[in-house]
Amino acid sequence: MKIIALVGSLRRDSFNMQLATTMKDRYKDKLSIEVADLRALPYFDQDEEQNPPQVVKDFKTSIAQADGVLIVTPEYNWSVPGVLKNAIDWTSREDKVFIGKPVMVVGATPGAMGTIRAQLHLRDILSSPGIQAKLLPPASNEVLVNFAAQKFDASTGRLVDESTLNFLDAKVNIFIEFIGEVKSLNV
Ligand SMILES: Cc1cc2nc3c(=O)[nH]c(=O)nc-3n(C[C@H](O)[C@H](O)[C@H](O)COP(=O)(O)O)c2cc1C
Repeated sequence: MKIIALVGSLRRDSFNMQLATTMKDRYKDKLSIEVADLRALPYFDQDEEQNPPQVVKDFKTSIAQADGVLIVTPEYNWSVPGVLKNAIDWTSREDKVFIGKPVMVVGATPGAMGTIRAQLHLRDILSSPGIQAKLLPPASNEVLVNFAAQKFDASTGRLVDESTLNFLDAKVNIFIEFIGEVKSLNV
């Protein structure tokens, strides 16, 4: 299954990018995860939405062609980072590539709350008319990686906390089932 990952941090040593990379490696037998280059996207400009820059067209195509989307979000000021919101806004106009697309949300923070506030905002965004993603039902499936500084190995840049990895394994399997269910409903 082809998955496009949107990672909301541009920071060199980003925990969220490390989480995405961990998932790409760990689930490579089940999922082909490609991390989108959100740094390359210009700011959303409504004057350009009908004929956006090629990099935006390519980004939208990568979502359209994916079986599902993995959103890996930091929390900035109790919400989603602008870089992620900007990327999502591009997808919500003209060809609305998120509509009906299975989405899994995960997030990591050095803080205690595990990005829950950002993820709650993200749920609203993903339900808006221009997006209408099929979000993996959050009950029991929230992946909130808190105290990230203790759970990632700085030398390898990977998530190493065993109980978090076991939890993630279970949730990824549920997401794979969910993608199958959404596909069967859409055909
Ligand atoms: C502008 C800004 C706002 C932040 N606000 C929050 C916040 O509301 N909640 C939180 O848990 N961490 C917050 N943080 C700390 C981030 O969780 C931390 O910088 C984290 O490492 C960012 O994710 P990354 O490692 O993937 O870059 C904030 C950081 C920045 C730069």
